Amino acid sequence: MTTTAYRASILHSVADPAEVGVEQSYQYFEDGILLVEDGKVARLGHAAELLPQLGGVEVVEYRDALITPGFIDTHIHYPQTGMIASYGEQLLDWLNTYTFPTEKQFADPAHAADVAGIFLKELLRNGTTTALVFGSVHPQSVDALFGAAEKLDLRLIAGKVMMDRNAPDYLTDTAESSYRDSKALIERWHGKGRLLYAVTPRFAPTSTPEQLDAAGRLLREHPGVYLHTHLSENRKEIEWVKELFPERSGYLDVYDHHGLLGARSVFAHGVHLCDGECQRLAETGSAVAFCPTSNLFLGSGLFDLAKLEKHKVKVGLGTDVGAGTSFSQLQSLNEAYKVMQLQGIKLDPFKSLYLATLGGARALELQDKVGSFARGNEADFVVLDYKATPLLDYRLRQAKSLEEKLFALIILGDDRAVRATYAHGRAVHQRG
Ligand code: GUN
Ligand code: ZN
Repeated sequence: MTTTAYRASILHSVADPAEVGVEQSYQYFEDGILLVEDGKVARLGHAAELLPQLGGVEVVEYRDALITPGFIDTHIHYPQTGMIASYGEQLLDWLNTYTFPTEKQFADPAHAADVAGIFLKELLRNGTTTALVFGSVHPQSVDALFGAAEKLDLRLIAGKVMMDRNAPDYLTDTAESSYRDSKALIERWHGKGRLLYAVTPRFAPTSTPEQLDAAGRLLREHPGVYLHTHLSENRKEIEWVKELFPERSGYLDVYDHHGLLGARSVFAHGVHLCDGECQRLAETGSAVAFCPTSNLFLGSGLFDLAKLEKHKVKVGLGTDVGAGTSFSQLQSLNEAYKVMQLQGIKLDPFKSLYLATLGGARALELQDKVGSFARGNEADFVVLDYKATPLLDYRLRQAKSLEEKLFALIILGDDRAVRATYAHGRAVHQRG
């Protein structure tokens, strides 16, 4: 058995502030110990209490640092890594101008392997240890990503895009081939190590009803796999869905009709949902990924977190790279704060922490594995550096409370604030 103790300030969420109030939502140890045994959380407590009990266990000390659970990104596209920060378009033109030509390149397994390596490195540099990831339409893109993630022993969920219409010929599959290819990927990867599969129709406009049926069939035939798609992101997109599916009562109903809602279903964006749709998401246990940097960058709109919370819809945080502008969940939370300010709502820093960790884990039904330091959880964690930049250091020295520190860390922090990232108890990134 390998046992290591990590000593630093330690903070994790234990509940949603919306349910229990901010004070009851977290645990904090100013001088704490996180004890990791064989990649799992064995104990968490105050150093004064635990140190005398550790015997000969190695203690790794991080000074001026805060350990939190690894960040969870509930929506991201790995093939779009190379087109992040592409100028000028809103969703539908952005897809045609930048996205589809970029994704075409993933027919080549060597290219896919290169980008998968860059992508995973970037996630870990930013303290993200779990992500729900879109591949491209090519099954080999998912083989490349899972192959690289397996070597790092990451808890990662991904899937091949299903898309059989309204996209260039070079990027479409068919209902039948998407079923067959997805099934083979599920058999190859789902449950291998910490990897999990997500059935991934791109969004309603690029799938025929036959393909959405195939997606529903895959879910029914493989309990435990996820459904990952986009929903109600952009006004023109929503109008288009109405034209394509006139017999359905709304965007969510398209997915509902094909049996795609459930506890492991994650819908990116949901910027323009009505109350009825929120209610249906909640009663099916479906989750929504809030992607603030993307929603601002593509001009999609302001995410109504209060409405989703009122209906008790599970919400995680997503970067949505490449429409999103940063791999950093700290930067996503910085932008989330501004999205909420524009709606006259204060996003509490402990709620922010929750969204990026335990809230994301709950959105992915992984709360008994990651997202907090509950005993027995997989030891995925990040070491945040209070002295990462001169400004952060100076600002944090003015801070009088944990809340103030955490907020400034969120607003000013990015990849520079990540000193180290651990996955399953192993260091997978150490800042140079
Ligand atoms: N809707 C359909 N495809 C995409 C995509 O690649 N990114 C975003 N943000 N929305 C989409
Ligand atoms: Zn997306």
